[in-house]
Amino acid sequence: MPQKKMFLGLTITDGYGSNNEAWRRADVDPSSYTNLDVAVRNAQAAERGGFAFLFTPDFPAVRSNVARSTIQNTMDPMLTLTVIARETERIGLVATGSTTFQEPFNLARQFKALDVLSHGRAGWNAVTTSDPYVAANYGQPVADRNDRYRRAHETVQVVQALWGSWEKDAWVKDQESGQFIDMDHLRPINLQGEYVASRGPLAIPPSEQGQPVVFSAGGPSPDMLALAGRYSSAFITEVWTIPEAQAQRAAVRDAARQAGRDPDEIKFVVGLMTTVAPTVRAGLDRRLSLAGDVTPQRVLQLGQMFGLRLEPGRLDEPLSAQELAAARPSDDPRAESALEVARQGWSVRDVLAHGVIDYHPVTVGPGKVHADHLQEWFEADAADGFWISPDVYHDGVDAFVDEVVPILRERGIYPDGYSGATLRDHLGIPDQYGADPRIAGATAT
Ligand SMILES: Cc1cc2nc3c(=O)[nH]c(=O)nc-3n(C[C@H](O)[C@H](O)[C@H](O)COP(=O)(O)O)c2cc1C
Repeated sequence: MPQKKMFLGLTITDGYGSNNEAWRRADVDPSSYTNLDVAVRNAQAAERGGFAFLFTPDFPAVRSNVARSTIQNTMDPMLTLTVIARETERIGLVATGSTTFQEPFNLARQFKALDVLSHGRAGWNAVTTSDPYVAANYGQPVADRNDRYRRAHETVQVVQALWGSWEKDAWVKDQESGQFIDMDHLRPINLQGEYVASRGPLAIPPSEQGQPVVFSAGGPSPDMLALAGRYSSAFITEVWTIPEAQAQRAAVRDAARQAGRDPDEIKFVVGLMTTVAPTVRAGLDRRLSLAGDVTPQRVLQLGQMFGLRLEPGRLDEPLSAQELAAARPSDDPRAESALEVARQGWSVRDVLAHGVIDYHPVTVGPGKVHADHLQEWFEADAADGFWISPDVYHDGVDAFVDEVVPILRERGIYPDGYSGATLRDHLGIPDQYGADPRIAGATAT
């Protein structure tokens, strides 16, 4: 039996990197946010490394004080990925689209158009947006959770029905006979739900993969699991430990099973933030030169994670033997791995520079460090694939492709190249056109 292989995705946001200070580095174009050549270059580098997809999260709002930090979002995911589609050949293009604020007809139209123009490489990350800044931009309060999820079920059902409404053999385009469309195969869907509705049909033919692949991103709440279990082919998540990831992956697979699907049809995708450098020390110095990791608040937070009182100015010494013996990791899922780093004897500054308080696990150092992490998680059934966020994209994507990917390939746990042309091929998920006949209509009728 061929060995199971992991897949990788690359996060695409504002073009700078996952480190807040990436935009300030002298070799980084400070206009990367609007310079699509930068996005294209990053996409081409990821494609060179055989990445299965690019992933653009989307929070269309100014959500924090951006006086000194960047926007951390693309200007517009669909337009960015459309530009990238024209400059790449294989890599999948996964954009986020809100089931809370967007109309299903718009979603169906834009995503299927992206799928057709990219020759079957599009994915839709269907999110139940709950961010108050985003809601305000749509002139609305944050909707009640129950309403958001009911609307999400209806929206995905209507979108998938619209995708299938131009049936596979509808487009005759016979110049001789003059028949353009076989109207028996281009039909309205006439769906009317409680929240959304559409008559259809959608005037877009199938792509090389039929229709876009549906993704979910979120935490494992029962509502989210029920949604993803029914419709999604990939579940993007943030987890810090292998046991946490194993439990979530099992829950996601179980949700698919309960919806009458094969659990292998939904892939579990875990985040990783990377700093690739010749040595761990060089990687820590690279991170420290960007600041961000080391602030007085983070020293205090680290102390809380260890159940210790750490003074904010206490940066240059490691934890003493007594402190390490007294340390009790808090409930924070990052606490145990942070303590492991502290036990290696790093100073408080260097412990923080390992990214122990970041929003995903962080790996720092030569290619082997990153490859070991990915292999350990993959072989523990904690992930089917990973979404990678390099610290500074300018050189971080190429470094990952040149230093990490060859090791993964050597170890036989990562494909040598693309074996197919579509996103479905890269993820190893089955064909689907229109709604999944195994999933009974929940709310839309
Ligand atoms: C890894 C991850 C990525 C997410 N990406 C987005 C996103 O791009 N846009 C968005 O509006 N919400 C995003 N979310 C938020 C979720 O879709 C969801 O709305 C949020 O976790 C609130 O949960 P709830 O809807 O179950 O209350 C993301 C969540 C996670 C964990």
